[in-house]
Amino acid sequence: MPNRCIVGNWKMHKTISQAKSLICDILSKYQAHPSVELVVAPPYVALPSVAHLLGPTPIKCAAQNLCAKDEGAFTGEVSPPMLQELGCHYVIIGHSERRHLFGETDQDINEKIHAALHHGLQPIFCIGERLADREADQTHTVIQHQLQTGLAGVAGKDLDNITIAYEPVWAIGTGKAATVEEATEVHTAIRSFLKVHWSLNAEQIRILYGGSVTADNAQALFQSPQINGALVGKACLNSESFVKIAEHAISD
Ligand code: PGA
Repeated sequence: MPNRCIVGNWKMHKTISQAKSLICDILSKYQAHPSVELVVAPPYVALPSVAHLLGPTPIKCAAQNLCAKDEGAFTGEVSPPMLQELGCHYVIIGHSERRHLFGETDQDINEKIHAALHHGLQPIFCIGERLADREADQTHTVIQHQLQTGLAGVAGKDLDNITIAYEPVWAIGTGKAATVEEATEVHTAIRSFLKVHWSLNAEQIRILYGGSVTADNAQALFQSPQINGALVGKACLNSESFVKIAEHAISD
């Protein structure tokens, strides 16, 4: 897979008709480049229409969540086989809004990662500290705990199919992105932690930054060799800014 990746997390935005129009706008503006993988994560209900419009284009679909179970009496949930049949390649797991607004635990996240891998869906595994953690100098402890618990039981070879998204909670939706130095420092720590605990070539692992990424700050962030792309929220709802962010990620 290309080393650079830009993921647009539409969160709970866009009805089906709005989603169709956004994806058509993106398709009309975006010139695919082999160095960058572009991924969109619309709401569940819009996934079939968006996947259909994307068809054979290089843009891939992600779900924003999944249930760890294959099927059963789980009202309101969506299973990995359902997402797979829809043509999803990726699934966002452990987003801070799932953790903090919907009470997802590290254990839940670990089960979801295993379920996704089992069904051939690639997890975009989100981790990140809260402001209080950073102020208490606990960023690394929190990140390491989230990695250790979220990836418990995952074999080293499966890490090739996982994209990590470092998203400091204080930067999400606040307009206050981490600086290049702050993000680089944590990305470097994530890589060395994975290297030590999963004894693999962690240089290959794709680590995205997320939290108030815009068309204006993306270029500087992507200059850091530690930052392999972005998980974008607000700025992905506008085709122009999303495509601009993707263009900033193109490398030779
Ligand atoms: P934001 O969201 O870009 O609006 O800060 C990022 C995210 O939640 O993934």
